[in-house]
Amino acid sequence: KKIAILASGNGSNAEEIIKHFEGSTKGKVAVIASNKKDAYVLERAKNHDISFISFTRKEMDDGFLEKTFAELEIDLVVLAGFLLKVPDGLIQQYPERVINIHPALLPKFGGKGMYGMRVHESVKAKGEKETGITIHYVNEKYDDGRVIFQESVKVEETDTPEDIANKVHALEHKYFPKVIESLL
Ligand code: GRF
Repeated sequence: KKIAILASGNGSNAEEIIKHFEGSTKGKVAVIASNKKDAYVLERAKNHDISFISFTRKEMDDGFLEKTFAELEIDLVVLAGFLLKVPDGLIQQYPERVINIHPALLPKFGGKGMYGMRVHESVKAKGEKETGITIHYVNEKYDDGRVIFQESVKVEETDTPEDIANKVHALEHKYFPKVIESLL
């Protein structure tokens, strides 16, 4: 099965997924696509000999992803730190085959504008005793599709938002590749 990853930034999750499927018979990462042409995730793709492409917002709105993924015969689309809303056309082309990871226990701490450190700062500010990760299907709204997998981690009173971010990232790296494999 062929996986496409959409990412806008650092790409540590993307790299874990690439590594997980290197030498796997179940699937492989066929392409990394980014809306940022200088995103570090593209360096990571290069280092692992994975094809990568960047595109503009306008190209995306004009059907770039639908066309490119169809040509590449992509089976599963994985959002790993992708900060734009994916086009409805892509969701229709890949029903239940576009997934996202969110660094909190949805429906808490989700929605438009809730990403990156803002999530962990909000978790801290609310005095939450636990947080975690959510892997879910993507629908037409932000962070709203059916949940596939969640895992939680304790938040200590002394944890800073950075500490929380580190714990959540560790969970993401541990589980995201495995959950993807289970969906293939
Ligand atoms: C992750 O925390 C993910 O949950 C969120 O964006 C972050 C991406 O991190 N959607 P990275 O680029 O994979 O390091």
